[in-house]
Amino acid sequence: MALKFITAQEAAEFINNGDTIAFSGFTPAGAAKAVPTAIAERAKGLHENGVDFKINVITGASTGPSLDGALAKADAIGWRTPYQSNSDLRKKVNAGNIKFFDQHLSYTSQFMRYGFLGKINYAVIEACDITEDGVIIPTTSCGTIATGCHLADQIIVELNAKHPKTLRGIHDIIVPSVPPHRRTIPINKPNDRCGDDHIKVDPAKIIGIVNTDLHDEVSPFTPADPLTSKIGANVIKFLLNELRVGRIPKEFLPVQSGVGNIANAVLGTLVTNKEIPNFTMYTEVVQNSVIDLIREGRVTFASACALTLTPDCLEEVYSDLHFFKTKLILRPQEISNNSGIARRLGVIAMNTAIEMDIFGNVNSTHITGTDMMNGIGGSGDFSRNSYISIFSAPSVAKNGNISAIVPMCSHTDHTEHDTMIFITENGIADLRCLSPIDKAKKIIENCAHEDYKEILWDYLKLSEGKHTPHTLSKAFNMHVEFLDSGDMRNTKF
Ligand code: COA
Repeated sequence: MALKFITAQEAAEFINNGDTIAFSGFTPAGAAKAVPTAIAERAKGLHENGVDFKINVITGASTGPSLDGALAKADAIGWRTPYQSNSDLRKKVNAGNIKFFDQHLSYTSQFMRYGFLGKINYAVIEACDITEDGVIIPTTSCGTIATGCHLADQIIVELNAKHPKTLRGIHDIIVPSVPPHRRTIPINKPNDRCGDDHIKVDPAKIIGIVNTDLHDEVSPFTPADPLTSKIGANVIKFLLNELRVGRIPKEFLPVQSGVGNIANAVLGTLVTNKEIPNFTMYTEVVQNSVIDLIREGRVTFASACALTLTPDCLEEVYSDLHFFKTKLILRPQEISNNSGIARRLGVIAMNTAIEMDIFGNVNSTHITGTDMMNGIGGSGDFSRNSYISIFSAPSVAKNGNISAIVPMCSHTDHTEHDTMIFITENGIADLRCLSPIDKAKKIIENCAHEDYKEILWDYLKLSEGKHTPHTLSKAFNMHVEFLDSGDMRNTKF
């Protein structure tokens, strides 16, 4: 069947109000760009003429300004899942204009296959190559798009000239069957392969190919600073002790590193310590720092869902692609974040918290319990299923006006049953096998900021003789104080 080339505007004309679209993209890596931007333009035109037009958007994770940004600004999104971090989209989510549901990233593809997300009308996939018989090679991420292509009625391909066809071979694509026919995924090491190097679809479903030449919209991370370096140093201290006492095997274990400035800085610090052996990664996102570590041999192999690299760094990888294809695998997110595999490999999970409470619960997603930051992402996939799970954060936010350690999280993503180690710049709280009251003492003493220690001890003293000594009438007083006076330090118990 001959490939049919169309413009992004022609592609956008296919889309109807209320359609559900699965877009490629996991972070801005591999995200469809030209077609969503054209859909946003179409939406604006229709809205000006008083015509309703909104689509439902499924991706792998967050995307960039051309997808989430453009569609949000055009008021063209009905509902959105599973993760976002674009400021325009976040504003509309928090104003109640876009219905966002936040999901463990390993769930999304199976939710699609199980029919929980309803009918998928279109898949829009960025590719580096496509053949007439329906073989599609994705670009820098896998996300949920293999499942999206299988389920969608029709497919639009963005063929992006920025990515070489020789990228073929970096992906390992498995789409598990639906229970009761689902089978074991035979991955016993981060570098095991068991899938295809392409997505195969019925070519009759491909309604058009849009030629593009667009960079992934990946912005640079904030470099490490004295605060994040202190957090990183505490992570190293903890891991070295685990190695010394033999709780981590001497050959080390695969590392998962979360998203954001803190996670990036922690990973950067980790590798500078030569007592930590060279290691592999079984993680979600490979960022610029990992590419340097692969070159240096500190990271010997990385399995991930996305290559989230700034354009200059991606150029470097492409200029030495033969080497990097022996060091990297990109997998769909339900495989990169698979709970069974994380548990089998014994992953060391390192994620970031927004707030942590004194009894060991973690909030990764909400500001003062109401406003969505980004979403849970893969943090839950890994934290519950890893060999060791570390949550780190600076002990205070917003110039010290907010304590990251609170009596009760204003929203809970990871419960005390999933968390093991809390780390701030002040120290380490090893919570494994402790009762709630012993957890509270360790967290306040080792992790809280000096400005907040007395306030937290005062809260703990309010209630005695209980298993989890909360005082429900005052559990959110620090949050309420922040909302009233702008400074949690004014809290009195
Ligand atoms: N209250 C209010 N704001 C807070 C806060 C708190 N308790 N803690 C952090 N913040 C704010 C910071 O001030 C900062 O605001 P700014 O953007 O206006 O400067 C913002 O949150 C980001 O914090 P930062 O300290 O720069 O951390 P980060 O970039 O490392 O991001 C998370 C931290 C938690 C938001 C991010 O890691 C995340 O989204 N995690 C959930 C998903 C996840 O873990 N994925 C990984 C799975 S593989």
